Amino acid sequence: MPVTTTPRVLKAEEALEHLRQLRARQPVQYWAFYSSQLGGIVTDPALMVLPFDDHMVHRGHGVFDTAAIVDGKLYDIEAHLDRFTRSAGLSKLPLPCSRDEMRELILHTAAASGKRDGSVRYWISSGPGSLGLPPAAGAEPGFFVMIFGGLTYPARWYTEGLRVMTTTYPIKPPLYAITKSTNYLPNILMQMEAQEAGLDNGVFVDEAGNVGESSNMNVAFVTQDGVLVHPRFDHILSGCTSLRLLELARRLVGGALGGVEVRDIPVAEARAAREMLLIGSSIKVAPIVEWDGKRIGEGTPGPASSVLRDLLERDMRSGRDRLIDIPY
Ligand SMILES: Cc1ncc(COP(=O)(O)O)c(C=O)c1O
Repeated sequence: MPVTTTPRVLKAEEALEHLRQLRARQPVQYWAFYSSQLGGIVTDPALMVLPFDDHMVHRGHGVFDTAAIVDGKLYDIEAHLDRFTRSAGLSKLPLPCSRDEMRELILHTAAASGKRDGSVRYWISSGPGSLGLPPAAGAEPGFFVMIFGGLTYPARWYTEGLRVMTTTYPIKPPLYAITKSTNYLPNILMQMEAQEAGLDNGVFVDEAGNVGESSNMNVAFVTQDGVLVHPRFDHILSGCTSLRLLELARRLVGGALGGVEVRDIPVAEARAAREMLLIGSSIKVAPIVEWDGKRIGEGTPGPASSVLRDLLERDMRSGRDRLIDIPY
C-alpha cells in the first residue's frame, strides 16, 4: 500500500489482504517458511512475517546461515550449523532447541517446499517483548527457516569475470566479522557503492593493508606460481564454501595448483596474482578480472576458477559424506 497520512484502523482480514497485495506487487520465490512463533510451516509468502518488536528486527540481535539444496539433498549442513551455533554463542543468543532439532526442522521445511533445488536460510532471533536493547524479560528466542530460490548472479560473471573495487567502508572489527549476525550494513553499503560506480562488487581491506573479503563472499587468489592463497579466517567470515574448497583443492597440488595456503595477503601481493576468485555458497567460484581499474592477470577468467568451480559442483552433487536426503 502506498504511504498514507490518514491511515484507518484495519480489521485483521484487511491487514492480511494488504500483505497479500504487497506480495502480488513484488513477486518472490519463497516456497516454505517455518516459524517457532507461528508454531509451524506456511507456504503463503504473505504469512512469512515476524512481530515488529522481535529484537532481530529493530536491533539486529539475530544470527543466520544459508545452505544449498541440491537435487533433493541438503549440502554440508553440519559445517553451516557449526558456524550458526558459534555465531549464536558469540551473540549471547540461547539456542531455541537442540542442534538435532534444528536440523530436523530445516529438513522438514525443505520437504514441505517440494523443491529439489534452491537454498535454505535459517535464523535465531532474540525474540519479541520490548523495544529495548537486551532481550525483553521472558523473551522466547525465535527460530525461522526459509526455503527459497537462492541468490542468482549474471551469467557474464562466470564467462567474462567480475570487476570490483576496494570499498571506502571500513572492514568490520574481527569479532563482528566472524559472527554471522543480521548486521550487514557495511556489506550492503559496500555492494551499493560498487553498483553505483558501475562495478560488480567491493572488497574489504583491513587496517594492516591485507585483503579481507567481499560483501557476502570470500576472496582468494592464485599466485604467479599457481599457489591458491586465501586470507586467514580470524578477521573475516569463515566461509563454508572456502573451507571445503581449500580441502578439495589440496587434491590438485602437483597438478593444476602449486600449493594451498591460508595466510595474510598484502594488497600489493594480491594485485600481482594470476587469478582472483570470489567464493561462496551462492556464487560458488567466480573469476574477478579487474580490481580498482587494473587487470588481474590477463584480465580474462583464468583456468583455476573453472577447475575449482567444477570440483565444488561435483562435491555438491556427489560428496556422499556431505549430503543429507530431504524427506519429501
Ligand atoms: C560476509 C561473508 N563472507 C563470506 C561468505 C561466504 O560464506 P559461505 O561460503 O558459507 O557462503 C558469506 C556468505 O555467507 C558472507 O556473508
